[in-house]
Amino acid sequence: MNRHTPLTTIAQQRLAAVIKPGDAVVDATVGNGHDTLFLARQVGATGQVWGFDVQARALAATRELLQTHGLAASVRLLNTGHQDLARSLPASLDGRLAAVMFNLGYLPGSDKRITTQPVTTIAALDASLGWLRPGGVISLLVYRGHHGGQHEADAVLAWLQAHTAAGMQVETIPSPGPVLYLAGKPR
Ligand SMILES: C[S@@+](CC[C@H](N)C(=O)[O-])C[C@H]1O[C@@H](n2cnc3c(N)ncnc32)[C@H](O)[C@@H]1O
Repeated sequence: MNRHTPLTTIAQQRLAAVIKPGDAVVDATVGNGHDTLFLARQVGATGQVWGFDVQARALAATRELLQTHGLAASVRLLNTGHQDLARSLPASLDGRLAAVMFNLGYLPGSDKRITTQPVTTIAALDASLGWLRPGGVISLLVYRGHHGGQHEADAVLAWLQAHTAAGMQVETIPSPGPVLYLAGKPR
């Protein structure tokens, strides 16, 4: 890693060290599917990727991307908010997720009014932490420049600080723009 490595790449590099073939993972903000594709490669044919997005258009583009790479079989794309995680995943995965990826904000090239929101993001973080296995990791790429972005970034930071006080390990990788957090569930 050098200082020019994009935070999206760093997030994937960190999670690649945690996710093993056969694992179950979540892409909480599918968007154009770059992280979904990465996760599908990591878990392989025996694993499971559960992807959430509120935009059907994003899911359709991601489905196509996965099919192009022959990786659609292990991925379930859900057209619902990540705050519904606990209602959407099979109970057998509770406490077994290896990783949950968040890439907050809006989808580039799409409607900028459709962004992640503090209340639903925090609800999804609570659910994710509960469903992770011990040692599992949440990656969170947080943008501050768009309307409402700073408010969401403040809420995320407060959530992380509260959980750090309770024993969660958090690595922070800042940049002049977005900030990347990697939060590990205590073992
Ligand atoms: C920055 S983009 C994600 C980019 C994506 N990781 C990629 O690789 O292309 C953020 C995405 O979050 C989605 N989103 C907004 N609110 C959401 C929610 N409550 N639950 C799930 N996805 C949401 C948006 O529709 C948008 O596609």
